[in-house]
Amino acid sequence: MLEDKRVLPLSVSQEMLAIFHKKIGDGKRLMAYYCCALMEVETKFKVLNQQFSLQQSYNPIETIKTRLKSPESIVGKLQRRNLPVEVEVIERELNDVAGIRVICPFITDIYLVANCLLEQDDIYMVEIKDYIKHPKENGYRSLHLIVETPIFLQNEKKMMKVEIQFRTIAMDFWASLEHRMRYKKEIGERLSDDLAAELKYCADASAKLDARMEKIKDRIIE
Ligand code: GTP
Ligand code: MG
Repeated sequence: MLEDKRVLPLSVSQEMLAIFHKKIGDGKRLMAYYCCALMEVETKFKVLNQQFSLQQSYNPIETIKTRLKSPESIVGKLQRRNLPVEVEVIERELNDVAGIRVICPFITDIYLVANCLLEQDDIYMVEIKDYIKHPKENGYRSLHLIVETPIFLQNEKKMMKVEIQFRTIAMDFWASLEHRMRYKKEIGERLSDDLAAELKYCADASAKLDARMEKIKDRIIE
């Protein structure tokens, strides 16, 4: 599992962080539940990949990365949104405590795997944001899903939210570097217009590469 290495604004309230840790009984349990949900969803992707590999000798998934949001990031987000540190609030308001990134070779694989997941009867879609069909202004591309899935505990079934980001290798390459560079700057400081334009150019260039690679693959399959 990846560590949540996001650079935190210095303004994360130590008081709120202390409250989070004071409620650690609940907090610890909550994080364990999110961790279970991550394992469930990761397994689903591994199973799908295995099945495609057996049936078609083809792996539509290149890599899977999982991460749990750190207490500091959770508190920082609650603080920015003026929300109290409460387990119920975290569960209700934050969609990305459990995050999973699925990296696929081609764009068609993304929709194939996402649809296979959404067809499963214990996966409930909460939200979908298609930044592949509608890239963000800065050039960011990815398919984001928020799903709910049950985890089965000793005496109860609990629904948990998981954020899934699907990217091609090229989209992930761009997003990872852009994220690094953005966070090299001070929080809140904007990239200059020419750097932003340069990054956008790179995003569009890598989208064109994705499309060309897909065409090559189609010709080979033919
Ligand atoms: P938060 O940013 O998590 O508060 O959520 P949101 O409601 O703005 O959701 P969105 O689906 O737009 O973004 C969620 C996540 O996608 C972010 O936390 C990042 O991991 C990723 N993401 C979104 N936009 C960008 C971007 O412009 N660049 C990079 N590198 N990642 C992005
Ligand atoms: Mg987020």
